[in-house]
This record gives sequence, structure tokens and C-alpha cells, in this order.
Amino acid sequence: MATPGVRPLIAGNWKMNGSTAEAAALAGAVAAGAGPGPDLLVCPPFPYLPGVAAALAGKPVAVGAQDCHAAAKGAHTGDVSAPMLKDVGATYVILGHSERRANHAETDAAVRAKTEAALAAGLTPIVCVGESEAERLAGEAEAVVTSQLDGSLPDGFAAAGGVVAYEPVWAIGTGRTPTEAEIAAVHATIRARLVARFGAAGGGLRILYGGSMKPSNAVAILALANVDGGLIGGASLVAADFLAIAQAAAAAPR
Ligand code: 13P
Repeated sequence: MATPGVRPLIAGNWKMNGSTAEAAALAGAVAAGAGPGPDLLVCPPFPYLPGVAAALAGKPVAVGAQDCHAAAKGAHTGDVSAPMLKDVGATYVILGHSERRANHAETDAAVRAKTEAALAAGLTPIVCVGESEAERLAGEAEAVVTSQLDGSLPDGFAAAGGVVAYEPVWAIGTGRTPTEAEIAAVHATIRARLVARFGAAGGGLRILYGGSMKPSNAVAILALANVDGGLIGGASLVAADFLAIAQAAAAAPR
């Protein structure tokens, strides 16, 4: 069950997909189907952020980005700053996704600096952690996740209501997921680490699961202790699937 007193968050990471027309259609369909229950968030690619944010203004669906630079402005060709994201209507930003850690060599220190930038701009960061398949097979999943948390979260994280997403790298886009016991074990480890570092505030932070989440497995995953929502990739590109996952969160015991 989700953490008592914590409102779940169902977040869609659209990654590098869509067009102007597809982003508008997807955002519109999500807003039209949004019901009571979890907080809803969609994270389009940068070019579609302003349009999606404008279309969702006043609707119960928040808008976030998929990355930001650690600096507020300057000579950083091709990068986007946290204040810019805030300026175009984003309220969340995903940071430290494994695809960025792998494809852009983002270290824990880099993720921490970006997270500090997000907090300074008034954005809610969603910081991703998760082990590779080799690390899981070696029995290192919880040690890896703990180390990533320690290195990636700045001191102000809990006071600002930051979100952690557990995304095992080998479960992303593969159709494979950890067992329910494995997910529960890692989420319990994350919760314990957050409480150890941040005290009571760490007990109320949202911990999302991500990796091949879909309507058929969402009910079971969202019923697990310390699972306070989901970070959805592929299934977030289909409004009906994303909304079905949101309904599963609404129905999960709390
Ligand atoms: P999939 O849901 O496509 O496995 O992606 C998960 C993810 O990486 C969300 O950030």
C-alpha cells in the first residue's frame, strides 16, 4: 500500500517521442480522463513543454521535464535550465534517469547538482535510482541504490518534497519486472535511507516504481508498501493505459 497520508503520483515519462499534434492529443486525452485519486504528471520532450503546459493549465495534470542543467543560465549550448522549465509551466523535473546516466555519463554528483538547481528554481525533482542487471545478479541492488541516493540527493531534498523513483535498469522497456518481494525490499531500503538522512520528513516522501509498469501489473505493484506511485515510460504514450494505471493507484489500499 502507498505510504499512509501520502498522495500517490502517477507520472508519464514520454522520453523522446511524439510530435506537436501527438503531444497535444495525448495531453488532452489524459486530462479528459483524469479522475480523483493520484496526482497526475506528464513529462513531454522539451519542444512540446510550453504547448502541453498551456493546454493543461487549470487541469488536474501537472507538467514536468525530463532533465535540466545545473546552472541557471550561461554558455551551455543545447542545454536547458531549471528556471527556463519553470518559466514555460513545468512544475516537476525528472533527474538522473538511467538513460541519462548511461548515455550522457551523468554521475551522482552531476545529478545532485541538477537537483539543487531544480530546488532553487522551485521545481519538484524526481530523482531516479536503480541497479543494472549485473548488479542485481551479484546481489548488489540495494547497495547500489543506497549509494546512488546518498550521492544524488542534496540536503534540501526532503524539505522541498522531492520524489524518488526506483527504476531497475533491466526492467526499463523490456517487459520484465522484479518480483513483488524484490520491489518491496528495495522500496523499504529506500524509505529507511530517507528516514535515516532526513528524519520524519523522509517518511513522507513519495517513492515511485518504474520499469515496464502497465495496467496488468500496476494493481499488484501499487499495492506494495512504500510504493507511492509510478514512473511510466511506454504505457504513458497510450492515454487509456496511463489512465488505467492511475485508476489502479486510486484503488490501491492506503
Ligand atoms: P518503461 O515503462 O517503458 O519500461 O520505462 C520506464 C521508465 O524509464 C520511466 O522513466
